[in-house]
Amino acid sequence: MKEETQNTRHVYPIFDKMMTRADKERLLKQHGLMVWFTGLSGSGKSTIAIAVERELHRRGLLCRILDGDNIRSGINNNLGFSPEDRVENIRRIAEVGKLFVDTGIITLAAFISPNNALRRMAAEIIGREDFVEVYVSTPIEVCERRDVKGLYAKARKGEIKEFTGISAPFEVPEHPDLSLDTSVLSLEESVNQVLGMILAHHS
Ligand code: ADX
Repeated sequence: MKEETQNTRHVYPIFDKMMTRADKERLLKQHGLMVWFTGLSGSGKSTIAIAVERELHRRGLLCRILDGDNIRSGINNNLGFSPEDRVENIRRIAEVGKLFVDTGIITLAAFISPNNALRRMAAEIIGREDFVEVYVSTPIEVCERRDVKGLYAKARKGEIKEFTGISAPFEVPEHPDLSLDTSVLSLEESVNQVLGMILAHHS
């Protein structure tokens, strides 16, 4: 049971009258799943997610990507990068992600989600049985050398505060279902590992 707050006291969700997740999964002929990518900025989370989405689509599987830079310019455009805002960022994303998973959609979330408490919260909101964690473990030196968005250079100059890996912490996941170091693996190898995991979950 969710905690009742002042705001939710007179709110009556009507989920029991709606078509169920099982109905939707039968319609789509697939199972909903959350694939949660965590890792530093520039580690390759979004690149892998985009390539996985293409492969799933090609196999007739419906997929949705939720990605840091997109979500932060829309639903979460009032949030920054303080520890509190990062919690609210991930909480909203997990709640939105749950809606996709409950619609039978394979959902790929690509967010730094820099600590175990945040990732645990996401797994608990979504439901552990529907949640797999992929740690994109590319070392910070490689992410910084790539510096695709030029943000590491700005963070080093102090122009961006609380930048993950430079001036804000990143806690390595304890038990990820998969670890992918994109400085060692090709994109194709990473994609194949994620696909293998999703398809195994599916059968
Ligand atoms: S999270 O820590 O709250 O999970 P999220 O994945 O949503 O982060 O957003 C990360 C993206 O925001 C980065 O890829 C980068 O483009 C941008 N960004 C801007 N400022 C920061 C910052 N201080 N720390 C990390 N990422 C930042």
